[in-house]
Amino acid sequence: MFERLEMAPPDAILGLTAAFREDPNPRKINLGVGVYQDSQGRTPVLPSVEAAEQRVLQAGPIEGYLPIDGLPEYAALVQALVFGADHPVIREKRVVTSHTPGGTGALRVAADFIQTQLPGAKLWLSEPTWVNHGSIFEAAGIETATYPYYDAAAHGLAFEALTSALRKVPAGDVVLLHGCCHNPTGVDPAQDQWQQLSDICGQAGWLPFFDFAYHGLGDGLEEDAAAVRGFAVPGRDMLVASSFSKNFGLYCQRVGALSLVAATSEAAKAAQSHVKRSIRANYSNPPAHGARLVVAVLSDPELRARWERDVKDIRDRINTMRKLFVDTLQARGITQDFSFIQNQKGMFSFSGLTKDQVDTLRKDYGIYIVGSGRINVAGMTAANMDYLCEAIARVL
Ligand code: LMR
Repeated sequence: MFERLEMAPPDAILGLTAAFREDPNPRKINLGVGVYQDSQGRTPVLPSVEAAEQRVLQAGPIEGYLPIDGLPEYAALVQALVFGADHPVIREKRVVTSHTPGGTGALRVAADFIQTQLPGAKLWLSEPTWVNHGSIFEAAGIETATYPYYDAAAHGLAFEALTSALRKVPAGDVVLLHGCCHNPTGVDPAQDQWQQLSDICGQAGWLPFFDFAYHGLGDGLEEDAAAVRGFAVPGRDMLVASSFSKNFGLYCQRVGALSLVAATSEAAKAAQSHVKRSIRANYSNPPAHGARLVVAVLSDPELRARWERDVKDIRDRINTMRKLFVDTLQARGITQDFSFIQNQKGMFSFSGLTKDQVDTLRKDYGIYIVGSGRINVAGMTAANMDYLCEAIARVL
């Protein structure tokens, strides 16, 4: 039965990592997948997480399975991190949170929930968006559509086109928004623009669904959460998919969360019962270890403070690399203006490099960049910057 099958195409992002590993070029650079690397090009265990791990190991293993939606203390800490401890959705018990395997797990659980509980709802994605979004929602049987987001000529937000499209999204459809550090463009709405988008959401009646995978990597933990918090106005339903891959460096532990906000506490409880059915039918219950690390960090004031410094270090290094990248390109005599890269937020830079240029960089220089021209700035170091900019100068 399987003999008729042909090879599926490699994954647009993780497929690059596989190809990178096999590349014998000693100068190769991986700027593909969104994984943080330090100034030595290594993906570190964050000091706060390392300390938390000692405590978790001392506490010993958990017996049996976790609850379907994970540890209650994890849910409470995630809610406080995302919404702020005093937010009305927490005080009024209108938010329910499930621990999911990574942000991708949260997106898929939400997709199954939407498909079964909001049948016929279309899901709207920004153009462009993370390449896996379409696959996740389509795999769950949800029809997707796109709204304009990026102004390629201005290297910025296409705000007029965006607002005009979101005004026309039918009530009851779902709009996926990136909470901060838009992937792949690095272009986020400003605070007043978020406010306008929230007003449009209220008038049009669509369901906001935030993918919040880079919390803390933009302007700061509080600043980056402002859009999500501002959208959670009284009476509004909402979904938030969190990932702790990047801000805790817990990539392979698969730690994420799906938070669902409802207009009342009863509605939130009922909705959560359906989310739990989706989880049970999907992976049954979540893995414990990564969530225990997050709990250990966020519940201890000392480790929490250390973690906030760790996140700041990541953010600062990325921003330093953005500047060095722009300066080095300039120093190479490249006349094309790349200064916009310094205004983009988070791990990625939408470089404007074409598919052909990206292919040449990979084949001739061993530099791995996602086909859309998205560059992981966190893969740049002072040591590889000259080689990278020299290669870019040549393909340009
Ligand atoms: C990325 O966009 O590179 C990350 O979110 C990792 C992934 O799973 O694609």
